[in-house]
Amino acid sequence: MKEFTFYNPTKLIFGKDSIKKLTKELSAYGNRILVVYGGGSIKKNGLYDEVMQILNKENKEVFELSGIEPNPRLSTAKRGAELCKEHNIDFILAVGGGSVIDCTKLIASAAKYDGDPWDFVIRKATPKEAVPFGTILTIAATGSEMNAGSVITNEETEEKYGWGGPLNFPKFSILDPTYTLSLPKDQTVYGIVDMMSHIFEQYFHRATNTPLQDELCEGALRAIMVAGEQLVNDLQNYELRETILLGGTWGLNGFLGMGNNGGDWGTHDIEHAISAVYDIPHAGGLAILFPHWMRYTLKLNPARYARLAIKVFGVNPEGKTDDAVANEGIDKLRAYWTAIGAPERLADYGIDDSKIDLMAKKAAVNGPLGGFAQLSEEEVKSILEASL
Ligand code: NZQ
Ligand code: ZN
Repeated sequence: MKEFTFYNPTKLIFGKDSIKKLTKELSAYGNRILVVYGGGSIKKNGLYDEVMQILNKENKEVFELSGIEPNPRLSTAKRGAELCKEHNIDFILAVGGGSVIDCTKLIASAAKYDGDPWDFVIRKATPKEAVPFGTILTIAATGSEMNAGSVITNEETEEKYGWGGPLNFPKFSILDPTYTLSLPKDQTVYGIVDMMSHIFEQYFHRATNTPLQDELCEGALRAIMVAGEQLVNDLQNYELRETILLGGTWGLNGFLGMGNNGGDWGTHDIEHAISAVYDIPHAGGLAILFPHWMRYTLKLNPARYARLAIKVFGVNPEGKTDDAVANEGIDKLRAYWTAIGAPERLADYGIDDSKIDLMAKKAAVNGPLGGFAQLSEEEVKSILEASL
């Protein structure tokens, strides 16, 4: 294991009716609340009304920022920061998915900063202060509800990057599986792909002696896959929603990555470059890329891939080389994602080879990609070409 410090101060409030705890959580903060949400799903499923009733009952002064886009935009975060400054906001409540939460994270820090908030994303400046914020999560996917990451798209320059820091942890996150029952099949599938991908990103690393972490990752993947394939045919099943909701949080709250020196994350960088240019759903890109990334990087550690194939995908290794077992495992991953309805090729989003060079360049902007694979721009291009 590599030396590590684990820090995660987010209070996780999980389960049916957990929204009842919102009042108590808000009592620690001032009265002027900015509610941030997306394109309207919370109005359709009744969550918006529930939240407003609670805030009104507590005599909070409520301000709203709606319309946060999937792949949240810098200009939207700037609008949120202006609202915070103008109305002297005490607390921000993000009600939605990873996009709403990520945007809120940037709003929170930008509200206390006079420069361009993009400075934080490109690491030109570090936030010194932020408006405190909490979340009510409505989609199981990113883990943003319990991590310090935020992914923002600069729509003018077609750049999409992740950034983070200790001020990005939500004070609390309320997770009631009931609010995820309204998710359509495609978003449910994207969430499953995203949380599985987060575990893969942490599973492939260059650290040694990680038996606890390996078993936890493999066990989490198996449980998510079992629940996931049932859920896509039974979208109203509360218990399956419950498992998948916690799966998303575990997938990226830092717990599974202890001692792994960061994992890889190259596939995420490549995907962010694709969605920066084409604005496709994050996990749609991951579902296309990951099997190709695995195929390409298998040579770096065939035994590790073979272990994944045996322990997670149930491949029988008898009489086979590690390479053969590993490839069978990747075939099974591809088949699983296809079976639940995830896309397979960039062509599924109408993406052709015309901007491959541009995407590879954007992905490799900070040098070699991924802590495990350390891919060059040329290698990223090969993976993108294989994904067409
Ligand atoms: O906008 P509304 O109307 O709310 O609809 C949303 C949106 O269209 C809908 N939705 C959410 N909850 C719903 C629902 N529809 C019906 N019922 C509900 N209960 O789902 C759509 C997608 O929402 P979004 O928030 O974009 O999804 P997700 O949570 O997958 O977030 C994706 C964003 O997070 C970033 C991605 O790059 C992307 O920008 N990521 C953030 C990470 C982090 N902060 O740690 C890590 C990830 O790897 C990822 O990169
Ligand atoms: Zn992701």
